[in-house]
Order: sequence, then C-alpha cells, then structure tokens
Amino acid sequence: MRIFAIVGTPHNGNTRAITDLFLDEFRAGGAEIDELVLPRDFGETCLGCANCILHGEDKCPHYGKTAPIVERMEKADLIILSTPVFVGSCTGALKELLDHFAYMWLVHRPKEVMFGKTGLIITSAGGSGVKQTVKLLRSNMSFWGISSVHSYGVTTMKMNGNYADYKDKDKIKKQVRSAAGKVAKSVERRKVSFGTKFLFGIFKMSQKNGWNKTDSDYWKEKGWLDGMKPF
Ligand SMILES: Cc1cc2nc3c(=O)[nH]c(=O)nc-3n(C[C@H](O)[C@H](O)[C@H](O)COP(=O)(O)O)c2cc1C
Repeated sequence: MRIFAIVGTPHNGNTRAITDLFLDEFRAGGAEIDELVLPRDFGETCLGCANCILHGEDKCPHYGKTAPIVERMEKADLIILSTPVFVGSCTGALKELLDHFAYMWLVHRPKEVMFGKTGLIITSAGGSGVKQTVKLLRSNMSFWGISSVHSYGVTTMKMNGNYADYKDKDKIKKQVRSAAGKVAKSVERRKVSFGTKFLFGIFKMSQKNGWNKTDSDYWKEKGWLDGMKPF
C-alpha cells in the first residue's frame, strides 16, 4: 500500500503523535509512506484568479508547486489529511493547499485515478470542532471522487498538551489499531460507492450543457459524455 500523508501542521503535538500512531501501524503492514508537512512544503495562498478552473490547472500561478504534489496524490492508494482543529476548522495551511485543488472536484475535472482510492482524516481538538473539521475534509475528498473516507478524531481537553501524557493514551492506541485495520481493508477493496457513481451521473448531466468549456471539453475527451466511466 502506498500512502501520501498531508500533515496540516508543523507542530510536534497531538495531531503529529496520533498521525504517527497510524503511520506506524501501516508501516508494520509494509506500507510505503510519502509525507508532506504544511506549511513547510507548500505555503501558497490561492489568489482567486480561477485560472485552474477556467483555463486549465497548468495556468495556476503556483502550478510549479502544485503539480508535483498532485503527482504524489495520484500515486497513493491511501491519502491522509491530518490537522488539529483551529477555530472550528482545519489549519489555514491545509485549507490553502485544498483551495488549489478546486479544479479536480467532480463538478469540474475529476481525475480517474482518484476513484477507488481510500481517504483518512485525522484530527485533534481541545474541546470541540472535530465533527465540522471532518465534514469539511470529507467533502473535499468525496468531491475528488474518493468513496471510502475514514476519520479518526480525538478531543484532548488540553491546550499544548502531549498525547503521551494522556490518561486515555492506551485507549487511543487501541482505537488507532482497529481503525488502521479497517482503512487497510478498504484500500484492498478499492470500492466506488453508489453515492459517488450517482454524483458522477449528476455532474455528467451538467457537463452536457456545460458553462465552462475547459471542463466540458475534458469530459468529452474522456468519453464520459458518451457512456465511458472513470471507474
Ligand atoms: C490557534 C488555535 C486555535 C484552536 N482552536 C480550537 C477550536 O476551535 N476548538 C478546539 O476544540 N480546540 C482548538 N484549539 C486547540 C487544539 O485544537 C488542540 O489543542 C489540538 O490537539 C492541538 O493539536 P496539536 O498538538 O497537533 O497542535 C486551538 C488551538 C490553537 C493553537
């Protein structure tokens, strides 16, 4: 199994510790792990030009930096998004990266290779915000075409605490082991769900009279408007 882990914080804290628990489980099962740490490895803000959507992703002013990241995503069987909860959401650094991938949402130009991949969201919060953070990241992955998106979130009740000191750490380790097993199974299955197929069908209809030529040309070239499918 090839894993691409996007870690949305440079802080060596709870999120890092819990992400490492998962990565250790996967490594023990023979996984190859590639990792991107934000903002160290990507620190650009989307400038809102919409060139990616309207004229092609290669017209993004940051294409030189996003293209190699997308290649790394494409090679992975499992994509991990990991982040602490900051003001009820993911870190700004992670959101800034995700903004650069708007063009590959199902409504625009989804990538065939995304269908059948598995996603995993890892998050830690002090008190609240796990649910809405997972929801935001899940919607990104789902709209890239990924059907099986797992999540693991903890509420630490400690600001700047260290996971290793928590009374719940054994429980967390156990939960991580079980969750990692489920994730590994879904990587093997490469399932494309009815929900993903349904969404693809809806966006196919919208592309038949598409408002954005770059998108509708892409769907035509793929043969998706003539019955071919990416899954
Ligand atoms: C800028 C900032 C904003 C935060 N916002 C929230 C929040 O909205 N909800 C919450 O429950 N915890 C919040 N926290 C606490 C962190 O989510 C929590 O301590 C988390 O485990 C930190 O992860 P880390 O150790 O990986 O940095 C915030 C912490 C920081 C530094």
